[in-house]
Amino acid sequence: MKAKELLKNCIERLDRAGIDCSRSVVRLLFKELLYLSDSEIILGTVEVPHRLCLSMNGAIERLIEGEPLDYVVGRRNFLGVWLKLNNSVLIPRPETEELVQMVIDRERDSTVFADVATGSGAIACALASHLSHSRVFASDLSLAALEVAMENAAKNGLSNIRFYHGDNLAALEDFLEEIEVIVSNPPYIKTSMLKSLDRKVAGYEPLLALDGGSDGLDFYREFFKHLPEGKRVYLEIAEYSVKGLSELVAPLKNYEYSFEKDFYGSYRFMFLHPEGRESRRRTPRE
Ligand SMILES: C[S@@+](CC[C@H](N)C(=O)[O-])C[C@H]1O[C@@H](n2cnc3c(N)ncnc32)[C@H](O)[C@@H]1O
Repeated sequence: MKAKELLKNCIERLDRAGIDCSRSVVRLLFKELLYLSDSEIILGTVEVPHRLCLSMNGAIERLIEGEPLDYVVGRRNFLGVWLKLNNSVLIPRPETEELVQMVIDRERDSTVFADVATGSGAIACALASHLSHSRVFASDLSLAALEVAMENAAKNGLSNIRFYHGDNLAALEDFLEEIEVIVSNPPYIKTSMLKSLDRKVAGYEPLLALDGGSDGLDFYREFFKHLPEGKRVYLEIAEYSVKGLSELVAPLKNYEYSFEKDFYGSYRFMFLHPEGRESRRRTPRE
């Protein structure tokens, strides 16, 4: 089948299914799955082999079923690093890119990092790539996720990451002394809210990556219980957790903390530093 005909057919099927931006979605799939250039897509005269027509049809079916585009494409760029994605791992979000960019800007001189709950390895790979002098320890409770993360590190030629399987900070307990900076985007959605999430999220992304327990704080509760003194910590959070997190860290000795907003204006990040680096403990007024 000629590319032009296949393109028209795919766009029509997405339109009939009520999927937005059908033209740009199909063009993206043509580039990613058929390896066609912009001009080949515009001209449309290339003959697409039967096998690739079948793979395009499969991709369109999956989109119509409601699967997220990033899973169908199977990869995503995260701060310049290409990440393979499948439904064992959360699709990395732009807010997490914002968090990692802040870490890169503020921790240029640090050398030992940890990415706890690494998922696809997004945070670990971006840190290891942008701060190439550094060493990164990455861990996750999901073995399937760790497999994806290790493949992503290898594909990007990042030999400065080591991966560990295990729960929360316990997975890295042998290395906590040498780790200077801990970054984490853990599961933080309240269990009761999972039902109301978009079907694209709740139906396809791993529950282990989303479910933060009844108050959304299960992971953080365990994390702060075992956080040693003297680390610099960068966490992604939900805005509704600000009060709960402030209460959780209140008993921590020798730490100061602050919350920061993301690009959309929501409190999305919590930072902790050893006392003296920041001026005081800060919880935003509600
Ligand atoms: C929100 S996803 C974040 C993934 C990745 N860091 C990112 O930003 O795209 C949370 C990750 O935490 C992992 N996880 C859940 N509970 C955990 C635990 N108790 N200890 C370690 N990892 C955990 C999940 O398997 C999942 O990969």
